[in-house]
Amino acid sequence: MSDYSIKIAVAGVGNLTSALVQAIYYYTEGHSEELIHPKLGGFSISDIQLVAAFDIDQSKVGKDLSDAIFSAPNNKQKVINIPKLNVMVNKGPTLDGISEYTEEVIKVASEVDANIVEILKQSKAEFLVINTPSGSNQAVETYAQAALDAGVGVINSTPTKLVRNPEWVKKFVAAGLPLLGDDLQSQAGGTIFHKGVLEVLHEQGIKIEDTYQLDVSGGLEGLTTLDYSRRQNKRKVKEDTIKRSIPYDINVAAGTTDYLDFLGSRRIGHYWIKGSGFLGQEVKIDITMITDDGSNGAASLVDAIRAAKIALARGKSGPIINVCAHLFKGPPSYISRTDAINRFSEFITGERDS
Ligand SMILES: NC(=O)c1ccc[n+]([C@@H]2O[C@H](COP(=O)([O-])OP(=O)(O)OC[C@H]3O[C@@H](n4cnc5c(N)ncnc54)[C@H](O)[C@@H]3O)[C@@H](O)[C@H]2O)c1
Repeated sequence: MSDYSIKIAVAGVGNLTSALVQAIYYYTEGHSEELIHPKLGGFSISDIQLVAAFDIDQSKVGKDLSDAIFSAPNNKQKVINIPKLNVMVNKGPTLDGISEYTEEVIKVASEVDANIVEILKQSKAEFLVINTPSGSNQAVETYAQAALDAGVGVINSTPTKLVRNPEWVKKFVAAGLPLLGDDLQSQAGGTIFHKGVLEVLHEQGIKIEDTYQLDVSGGLEGLTTLDYSRRQNKRKVKEDTIKRSIPYDINVAAGTTDYLDFLGSRRIGHYWIKGSGFLGQEVKIDITMITDDGSNGAASLVDAIRAAKIALARGKSGPIINVCAHLFKGPPSYISRTDAINRFSEFITGERDS
């Protein structure tokens, strides 16, 4: 193990965690030429070390993490064999981790709830990555409080408000711990792609009127977001950030519309943009994008984990504004896509403070 190891615990062993674990081994083997940041502040993806895990599903609890990531209902494709990790998946508190639509699929393990704080302390985790389902607000807050009690930073992949909630921000600042979130922005994600296309059209003088980005997916998260209130919450995060990419009001709809199990971990996004250009000419764009959900999210998550470690090493606490703005859809404050990329790089090199 290198001196650069980054010890993380995960809450939620779904498709995103499966892709994260697989990425660590895939990039330990090589493949660094495929990466935009083979190293980030001196850290490689292979420096990330999983030291503890929590889930609620009987198909995962009690198993070694290397087995649990390939257990149904996870359907992220296996890209690499994972050795036994000697990290057992502990039973977390169920709370609101199951939605009306996933109760047939997630069977809650019979084990008693583990002591999250104690496990985090014993594992020497530096960060808890929260990968529980969309809308599991009580679960996210319970894990965030446990992380605080254990003296561990938090990376919130979910849409639950932590960096956008002043109370949580205050607690993490007071504890001297970094907090990154909310709602991971995937590498070739619907939101970043949508914002990019709208920005280019705007810069070219096209007046945008209406746009939508509607997707279908076959992962468990797709099933979770069939639940109206969970879906609306996630849609709001997406729609807010897309609206902000253009300096005038436009009609925006964005979010998951259906779950199709035969798609596996794929997400198929349909983009529609209508606007007008020179001489009032109509401009219409219709695009389909097919991606793998878990991989797409893990690509950003490995950068968030390495940036969190850099923040910790520099004694930073609370939200790291420019890291959140680049890697998450719901950052504490909005920064344009291109500014966020540049400021993120400047934070990594140390030219910027946060
Ligand atoms: N591309 C991406 O993967 C991506 C992008 C942006 C945001 N996110 C967010 O990341 C989160 C995870 O996504 P996913 O695709 O892995 O979801 P998933 O549904 O595949 O996995 C969620 C896991 O959490 C477990 N769980 C449920 N309640 C729990 C609890 N109380 N404690 C511990 N575990 C619990 C489930 O059993 C399941 O294993 C979601 O909130 C999603 O919105 C993912």
